[in-house]
Amino acid sequence: MARVIMGIESSCDETGVGLVRLHDDGTVELLADEVASSVDQHARFGGVVPEVASRAHLEAMVPTAERAFATAGLKLSDVDAIAVTAGPGLAGALLVGVSAAKAYATALDVPLYGVNHLAGHIAVDTLQHGPLPKPVLALLVSGGHTQLLRVDDIASGITELGSTVDDAAGEAYDKVARVLELPYPGGPPIDKAAKQGNPKAIAFPRGMTGPRDAKFDFSFSGLKTAVARWVENTERTGDPVPVNDVAASFQEAVADVLTAKAIRAAREQNIGTLVISGGVAANSRLSELAAERCAEAGIELRVPRPRLCTDNGAMIAALGAHVVAAGRSVAPLDFSANPGLPV
Ligand code: KG4
Ligand code: ZN
Repeated sequence: MARVIMGIESSCDETGVGLVRLHDDGTVELLADEVASSVDQHARFGGVVPEVASRAHLEAMVPTAERAFATAGLKLSDVDAIAVTAGPGLAGALLVGVSAAKAYATALDVPLYGVNHLAGHIAVDTLQHGPLPKPVLALLVSGGHTQLLRVDDIASGITELGSTVDDAAGEAYDKVARVLELPYPGGPPIDKAAKQGNPKAIAFPRGMTGPRDAKFDFSFSGLKTAVARWVENTERTGDPVPVNDVAASFQEAVADVLTAKAIRAAREQNIGTLVISGGVAANSRLSELAAERCAEAGIELRVPRPRLCTDNGAMIAALGAHVVAAGRSVAPLDFSANPGLPV
């Protein structure tokens, strides 16, 4: 019999509640995906303020859940299992979601699963493109993470091949936006400015691409510093900063490194499908270059729509459904959030 899974996400600045239906044939159907974001409250700080995020989750959790049930036309009593992000993420923020999930699970007397946020970013693709082939390579790029993951089984078999040694890709976007006096979060305004600029105008460095660098790791802090220094030097001459060219050249450097390493990993690991997810997957140049390079290499590319790429509850519900389908054991009610949870 089909089962309804509720997913709760609160690892960063998005309060998400998703509802999905797990069908008997293993397919997972999206029923509701409600998100309340506190991003506007963090904008003037140029980054997420943990205490502000926790308070916002506390205020938004129940109304967001109510909206999800209303959208799906379901009642709380229709829920068969609950999945919640156990980590990684901000400790206080995670605790709000975990506490809410425990309360719902206890009140409804249904099983509770603590799941990994990073795996959720990959599982969400099944809501749009159907079951994942085995294995797939996942490039996870957001404000908090930049990782290449080999996914043999979404519910239990994920191996990290590489990750950033400093800033996450989205963090680099946010910091460069600040340098260019563009609003926070920086991804969308840089993406927009870059469309009017020349990506070859400035040769910004491609981090971690030297012969002695770890093959699948990333580094974006050198790029961020190079952009800041270039802008400072231009300002010192009194010339106007060519914001569109800087944005386009920076964006090209990020997209180049991310896609080159992903293709290399897919080739070396003999993996035929690449999934790109996380907030930065919404970047137009990244998906364009990934499509080009995947086509050349004969690799299938799957990029969930932007709404599913950024943090949401549906990704946690989708992962919960795969965990339920795999028969993984239920979390005891005394489990806790784990801010540093590995994949
Ligand atoms: O996945 P997400 O919503 O939250 C985290 O888990 O971090 O990702 C947010 C990040 C931000 O750093 C934002 O600047 C970036 O995703 N982002 C983009 C674009 N849209 C959002 N980066 C590049 N291009 C975009 N179009
Ligand atoms: Zn995320």
